[in-house]
Amino acid sequence: MKEKNGLFITFEGGEGSGKSLQTRKLYRRLQKLSLPVILIHEPGSTALGEKLSRLLKWGHSNEISPLAELLLFNAARAQLVQQVINPALSAGKIVICDRFADSTLAYQGCGRGLDMAAIKNANATATGGLQPEMTFLLDIPVKEGLARKSTRETNRFEKEEVAFHERVRQGYLQIAASEPRRFTVIDARLDKKRIAGIIWQRVSSILE
Ligand code: TMP
Repeated sequence: MKEKNGLFITFEGGEGSGKSLQTRKLYRRLQKLSLPVILIHEPGSTALGEKLSRLLKWGHSNEISPLAELLLFNAARAQLVQQVINPALSAGKIVICDRFADSTLAYQGCGRGLDMAAIKNANATATGGLQPEMTFLLDIPVKEGLARKSTRETNRFEKEEVAFHERVRQGYLQIAASEPRRFTVIDARLDKKRIAGIIWQRVSSILE
């Protein structure tokens, strides 16, 4: 296997946590320093991934079974890892990914109730064992997060009941607690600049 010299950073969080904004801020900051960096998101960032994303987010709720959902997210992930992430890491780039395999553990595992061992197997197959060096979890109380999103049309996940999102949130916190070296948990209610500052502190320490 080719050596990977890059840095793989992922962002995770429930609905309305503001993680996409923070991925963009970090991306721009690294770009300004003329560092080689790419910003991608899951599901998506490949032609196949974008098609699957439309299906997963905007398909009819009862048309996709939880198991099919797990495999579709991982189909998108397999394509993204092979086509984009691995080549970028091999070329020494910093890869910022908005959601990755932890999303599947939190949403399909804790949210939908699928077997965690089966999810870990599916994730490992799709990623070839690739793990982020660093993951930021933006944590927000469920109702606050959903309220931030309520101004536009809601997708299949946003339509889920509050209890589903509560399971996702608690799942994320447990996953983060089980891997404290990889995860930084940030209160997503903090000021946006403050959150960006916390993220930058961690990223710049590793870049040094
Ligand atoms: P987003 O593009 O707004 O982050 O929406 C993606 C949605 O898909 C979000 O509700 C979380 C969900 N999702 C899963 O359920 N499992 C996964 O593995 C991933 C990547 C996302």
